[in-house]
Amino acid sequence: MSPVIRLSGLLLLACLLEAQPKDPYIGSQACRACHVAQTQSFFRNAHTKAERGCESCHGPGRAHVSAGGKKDLIVAFSALSSRKALDNCLACHGKDWSRNNIRHSAHTQADVVCSNCHSVHQAATPKHLLAKPQKDLCYSCHPNVQSQFSMPFKHRVNEGTVQCADCHNPHGAPAPTWRMGQRPRLQQHAQANEQSCVQCHADKRGPFLFEHAALRVDGCGSCHAPHGSANPRLLNRPVVFTLCLECHNGAPGFGREGQGIPTQSASHNMADPRYQNCTTCHVKIHGSNADARFLR
Ligand code: HEC
Ligand code: HEC
Ligand code: HEC
Ligand code: HEC
Ligand code: HEC
Ligand code: HEC
Ligand code: HEC
Ligand code: HEC
Ligand code: HEC
Ligand code: HEC
Repeated sequence: MSPVIRLSGLLLLACLLEAQPKDPYIGSQACRACHVAQTQSFFRNAHTKAERGCESCHGPGRAHVSAGGKKDLIVAFSALSSRKALDNCLACHGKDWSRNNIRHSAHTQADVVCSNCHSVHQAATPKHLLAKPQKDLCYSCHPNVQSQFSMPFKHRVNEGTVQCADCHNPHGAPAPTWRMGQRPRLQQHAQANEQSCVQCHADKRGPFLFEHAALRVDGCGSCHAPHGSANPRLLNRPVVFTLCLECHNGAPGFGREGQGIPTQSASHNMADPRYQNCTTCHVKIHGSNADARFLR
């Protein structure tokens, strides 16, 4: 082959290559030269599984690289509105069941999005890529809750026995079937549509032949402070009968007959201290299979 033909052949090939539109994606290898920190730690990240590597979140990077690193030629989270950042992550994570309610969660409505809680490049917990260990993360925005977990009686969240996410889904939760239409408070559901509490306190779930409507309708929170309390058993009131009398007080307009919740019968002598500790007799206060008055 003469050198002339060879040369023109090469030229033709070059022209053909030039005419083909360049793939806007360039691959994660190209980022390494300038973003050493992000690249070096990336192999530990769950997102190494994502097909396009860096560019699966930051978008096609060829133009950014060709320009020597212009910020407006790449998806820079520091320049995104919180909603745009949310959409970016949901492009892949929108299908996951645990985040079905993300769009109308109290967090999203308050502009708290993925990148407020998760850190892709500087995660404090390798698992779930949290920006801080879970309780510190939640406390950083909910300091009032921290004091509740320092009460004399509490779920041991600070000690690591129980976690916020055992009872809450920070990604949003469906409307509960209990709580009488109060705000759902991002409560995690157990067994599809029950209170998170019963995943650990299974004996309180029943089903009971004789239910105490307070549990089913209002929820555990009608008698217990879920975070912490000054009272034993996390009760909302220091003395048991004051708790019971919040509902069993003869007020009209509620209950089976629409005549109010049944009040204790005349045999109850409220002046007698013995009667003030209701649960010494009504021992099955969470529901019973043997007695409609929860006596056994
Ligand atoms: C030639 C060096 C170079 C290469 C290669 C490069 N970048 Fe950059 N990149 C930069 C520079 C410089 C900036 C800072 C620009 C500024 O602040 O105006 C930057 C900014 C960024 C930002 C914005 C950070 C912020 O402020 O939020 C992201 C995201 C980014 N690069 C991702 C990538 C990705 C992904 C790749 C690989 C596809 C890549 N870069 C390749 C130089 C580079
Ligand atoms: C899962 C999505 C995702 C992937 C994959 C990803 N990033 Fe990022 N990147 C982010 C987010 C979100 C931020 C904003 C800071 C934060 O929240 O950690 C960010 C920030 C950055 C920044 C700004 C500096 C900083 O650390 O805040 C650079 C540069 C960057 N990424 C480069 C890269 C490179 C290089 C890769 C591949 C090795 C990569 N990113 C892969 C989501 C991602
Ligand atoms: C291109 C698709 C894609 C995008 C975009 C994406 N992710 Fe992911 N993400 C994945 C894949 C794939 C995994 C790994 C899933 C697995 O291991 O089952 C993952 C895992 C995760 C995990 C779980 C890690 C673990 O250890 O459990 C978190 C947290 C996460 N992503 C957060 C984010 C955030 C925040 C963003 C937005 C900044 C984002 N992702 C954007 C695909 C994506
Ligand atoms: C208010 C804080 C918060 C926000 C906002 C948040 N997360 Fe999470 N996320 C968490 C916590 C805490 C966990 C760990 C839950 C656990 O331990 O069960 C988690 C777990 C995850 C996981 C792994 C377990 C699972 O549920 O699949 C993924 C993936 C994830 N988040 C993605 C996202 C994405 C995507 C967004 C935005 C659309 C987001 N998160 C917004 C706090 C948050
Ligand atoms: C044992 C289950 C449980 C645990 C663990 C738990 N919560 Fe709650 N939380 C609840 C319930 C139930 C409610 C609803 C209380 C009500 O409104 O009656 C609630 C309400 C809230 C509220 C809204 C009301 C308020 O007091 O401001 C916030 C915020 C909150 N929790 C944050 C947290 C944080 C942060 C953690 C972890 C440090 C946590 N929770 C751990 C069960 C729990
Ligand atoms: C970046 C700040 C921030 C972080 C981190 C954060 N939250 Fe929130 N959270 C908010 C804001 C803002 C609201 C909405 C206003 C309010 O109700 O206080 C909220 C609301 C809530 C509510 C009440 C929802 C309602 O219906 O009133 C619960 C429960 C809650 N967060 C739990 C958590 C848990 C659990 C974590 C940790 C996984 C967490 N939050 C992390 C800012 C944050
Ligand atoms: C992740 C498991 C878990 C979940 C979910 C949970 N708890 Fe607990 N609960 C515990 C553990 C463990 C203890 C023992 C407390 C200790 O000594 O640390 C406890 C203790 C209690 C106590 C005090 C018992 C005593 O003998 O003093 C009450 C009351 C209680 N929980 C109610 C609830 C309510 C109401 C909910 C739902 C809002 C709930 N729990 C959700 C694990 C859980
Ligand atoms: C009608 C009020 C009321 C409701 C509603 C209620 N409890 Fe209780 N609970 C009590 C009382 C009162 C005690 C203390 C019993 C005693 O002193 O013997 C108690 C004790 C407990 C204890 C510690 C002792 C034990 O029996 O294990 C746990 C755990 C508990 N409750 C969990 C729950 C859970 C979970 C729910 C929701 C499914 C719930 N409670 C709903 C009144 C209630
Ligand atoms: C949140 C409100 C509420 C609280 C607090 C409450 N109850 Fe009830 N209780 C009810 C309702 C509602 C019923 C069912 C009424 C009906 O079926 O018509 C009921 C039923 C009962 C019954 C059965 C009555 C019958 O004839 O069937 C007894 C016994 C009882 N409660 C005892 C107690 C005791 C003891 C306490 C305190 C530890 C207590 N209750 C706290 C709402 C409450
Ligand atoms: C000494 C044991 C004892 C104590 C303490 C006790 N009860 Fe009872 N309670 C009973 C017995 C037995 C019955 C069923 C027979 C009856 O009605 O006298 C009953 C019945 C009830 C009924 C159903 C009445 C009806 O008409 O169906 C309610 C409601 C009730 N108690 C609430 C309470 C409350 C609230 C307290 C605490 C202030 C309490 N009890 C303390 C033994 C007790």
